Amino acid sequence: MKTIGVVTSGGDASGMNAAIRAVTRLASAKGFEVLGFERGWEGLLTGTFRVLTPRSVGGIIQQGGTILLTSRCEEFRKKEGLRKAAETLAKNKVSGLAVIGGNGSFQGALELSKHTDTQLVGIPATIDNDVYGTDETIGFDTAVNTAVAEIDKIRDTAISHERIFIVEVMGRTRGFLASTVGLTVGAEIILVPEVKYDRTKILKILRENTAKGKRSGIIVAAEGTGDTRHLAAELERATGSEVRLSIVGYSQRGGSPTARSRLLANLFGEKAVELLAHRESNGIVGLQKGKITSTQLEKSCANEKPLDQSLLRLAQALAT
Ligand code: F6P
Repeated sequence: MKTIGVVTSGGDASGMNAAIRAVTRLASAKGFEVLGFERGWEGLLTGTFRVLTPRSVGGIIQQGGTILLTSRCEEFRKKEGLRKAAETLAKNKVSGLAVIGGNGSFQGALELSKHTDTQLVGIPATIDNDVYGTDETIGFDTAVNTAVAEIDKIRDTAISHERIFIVEVMGRTRGFLASTVGLTVGAEIILVPEVKYDRTKILKILRENTAKGKRSGIIVAAEGTGDTRHLAAELERATGSEVRLSIVGYSQRGGSPTARSRLLANLFGEKAVELLAHRESNGIVGLQKGKITSTQLEKSCANEKPLDQSLLRLAQALAT
């Protein structure tokens, strides 16, 4: 019997469990034994895994987090760590490994590929949606919906108190989450790391809004834009209005995955098993222009996914 492995690595994203279930069930149906490595790359370093079966992955499609646990593993970045991981794969005759994670996990997979013949297939799962080779990642839609639900509530209190709120969302150094969230909550201003926005411009918009009769407002800021606490204090001083900061935080990573996140998990899982069954080269699966595709692992790691700034322009046009 041939063996494949599955591992979840880096920051968790809702829908990772649905992806584990899809890979396990589809690979088992093709006659593979499936090993689930635990705590991300750490499981490969220490040889910690459990056998996954169609039954053992029952009842998890609706659960956030990852039943395999995850971590950010420093040791894996070193040559010795990579060598140990490669040894674990060889010892257990793992012909292919599905790596469920984001950019960091795929960089790790690329490094590992220099030490092993095991085929490595990435399944993009991160709330940051910053993986080159896919228009959307597993967990992104869930994170967007969590943030939107929270900001809708903040809007109520912002209106009642006639306040400006800065709401910080995650996204690491990128603005995918902030731009989609900002557009869909009707934010007055969206701040993303990809677009330079100086204080003068923010103040100008806030003053124009006051002149138009707007007595409250929401600024959605990506965490990668800098110190939002400082920004709130600065804007309060400059406008003389009350400015409050609310940080959505880690709730964006958890919770039951939306149907959209589950759908991607199932489709990505299917494509990954297809690639593993045919022993295609190392790659990542993805959704591109409505189609499920695959991209060379090296290409995904070497390129930065561009932010579609049309969402920002639309949000601005609508915030009148
Ligand atoms: O990559 C997912 C993410 O949630 C980012 O949005 C955030 O910057 C980071 O992980 C937080 O990482 P940690 O879990 O190590 O605090």
